[in-house]
Amino acid sequence: MKSKDLRPSPYPDRRVPMTIMLLVFCGFSFYLGGIYFPANKLQKEDVSHALQLEPIEPKAVTPASLQVEPIEFPQCECCEDRTPCTDPMRWRKYSVHKLAFMERHCPPMSEREECQVPIPFGYKTPIRWPNSRDECWMKNVPHFWINENKPDQNWLRKDEAAEKFLFPGGGTMFPNGVGRYVDQMQELIPGMKDGTIRTAIDTGCGVASWGGDLLDRGILTVSLAPRDNHEAQVQFALERGIPAILGIMSTQRLPFPSSSFDMAHCARCLIPWTEFGGIYLLEIHRILRPGGFWVLSGPPVNYQNKWQGWNRTVEELESNYEKLQKMLASMCFKLYNQKDDIAVWQKSSDESCYVQHDNPDVYPPKCDDGTEPDAAWYIPLRPCLVPSQGFEKIGLEATPKWPERLHIASERVSMIPGGTSGAFKQDEKKWKSRVKHYKTLLPVLGTDEIRNVMDMNTVYGGFAAALIDEPVWVINVVSTYSANSLGVVFDRGLIGTYHDWCEAFSTYPRTYDLLHLDGLITDESHRCNMKYVLLEMDRILRPNGYAIIYESSYFSDAILNIAKRMRWSCQKNKTEDDSENEMILICQKEFSIPTSHIR
Ligand SMILES: C[S@@+](CC[C@H](N)C(=O)[O-])C[C@H]1O[C@@H](n2cnc3c(N)ncnc32)[C@H](O)[C@@H]1O
Repeated sequence: MKSKDLRPSPYPDRRVPMTIMLLVFCGFSFYLGGIYFPANKLQKEDVSHALQLEPIEPKAVTPASLQVEPIEFPQCECCEDRTPCTDPMRWRKYSVHKLAFMERHCPPMSEREECQVPIPFGYKTPIRWPNSRDECWMKNVPHFWINENKPDQNWLRKDEAAEKFLFPGGGTMFPNGVGRYVDQMQELIPGMKDGTIRTAIDTGCGVASWGGDLLDRGILTVSLAPRDNHEAQVQFALERGIPAILGIMSTQRLPFPSSSFDMAHCARCLIPWTEFGGIYLLEIHRILRPGGFWVLSGPPVNYQNKWQGWNRTVEELESNYEKLQKMLASMCFKLYNQKDDIAVWQKSSDESCYVQHDNPDVYPPKCDDGTEPDAAWYIPLRPCLVPSQGFEKIGLEATPKWPERLHIASERVSMIPGGTSGAFKQDEKKWKSRVKHYKTLLPVLGTDEIRNVMDMNTVYGGFAAALIDEPVWVINVVSTYSANSLGVVFDRGLIGTYHDWCEAFSTYPRTYDLLHLDGLITDESHRCNMKYVLLEMDRILRPNGYAIIYESSYFSDAILNIAKRMRWSCQKNKTEDDSENEMILICQKEFSIPTSHIR
């Protein structure tokens, strides 16, 4: 793992070794997508393209710049809602056990397509936040399963005349509106009202009405659901401007560090909590911080009054509830509060509760396989309790309340190479000034034109923190190959996920208004072909969406070339400190990309 902060300074010092390295590996580069060197193969067209977009006079000593072969990207034949790593067309290859076929299974390199995803016929600029919470254009997410199969639950409703889907805020457990449901929950958990609880995960989120409601209450939720029969639920969530990602509790850990979330929620989310030795509860235990809350509504909670509507016998439900209680107690959860349909458990912050798990005869045992508590990228779930990392102030009670925690470096900063509270403060300052500069380059940043934002390779979440007063939410991505700083991001009350940018992200096409990269191409160039990274960005950007690419100048021409082929318009700009070797590309994805033939 490497830290961006430890990145060696770029050119000209690196130019000679880099040239030698590139020559040695040029055959490999061809395989990876046609990257080539030296510059004498430069295409005329590429030069003029780069110059056209270059408002800055060339410096006396210009670092060599990587060139790429001209590439054309056809329109993908299949399909406008393409999610390469959770592709229903590939489901049959994988096991139905634990619904493993719905987990991430990315296509091998040989099956990777180099194409641009078309937009649906009739697609319009998405409705702006906050109206988007209540309505979206029907043709932007043309999927009718939920409307046809769950009309009584009020997830969404079709308004044919207006060509919109309306979101009345209903759900399986709150058909009369999520607001009242969350009010009840706040009565049970006072910490939801005073800034104690800031980060949440909603497993099996539907169209994310729960997460959407909590935004107004200062709680930031990662809404998570698979691509399953609840057609396009995560796409609806993102179209509404609510943070959500594709994911499933199946055979692998969720892509978050340990002790991340202050609260986890499941409203009739169909996850078999008591099956398979309780591996899903153990995973909730791993990702919750000590003192964090697990909230369950739906079967078997309140079975005494609700069992008749659930097609199960009262005895079955009673035994299931007892099993659940027992399992939770065995994992050091305590029942915290319960009323009607909602039950709340709290994860113990008392380390002495876990001493019993050292005894091999006690179930669940402590995990002893050496897998790091934070490792969560294709890591199998195991029926054991992940031990704590020994931080004293990681618990919910010891965590400063929101919004103070945004500006505080948590203990976990020491896990990052070079990580200190001084480095954290420095980073915070850097991002304040950088975002100020970004706003001069991209004046729509901070307006309702930009809502869904991704920082594709963050360290401490500084970019997101600098945008905290804007009408945006930011998902902070930490590369699975860089220093593991995601815990610090969560500790400051922000949300994020691990991801490997050599693969497709767990989201639908056209789900982000702005993607931000800071040296990602430089950091990952030895592993990931930039062509695929940029094509993936094109897939997930909304038409007219933006990318801010802060990069080494070495990659600028190559990025501009590929961006041009994707019909993005880009402008090359100086960095805030007028760096010689870095630049900022502000790119916009064109709206008029080909529409799908499917109507
Ligand atoms: C009945 S719906 C409830 C949706 C929402 N919680 C509500 O109350 O409206 C069940 C949800 O659980 C999700 N789900 C089912 N199995 C899951 C699993 N193993 N992991 C994560 N989500 C799952 C479904 O995709 C769907 O979003």
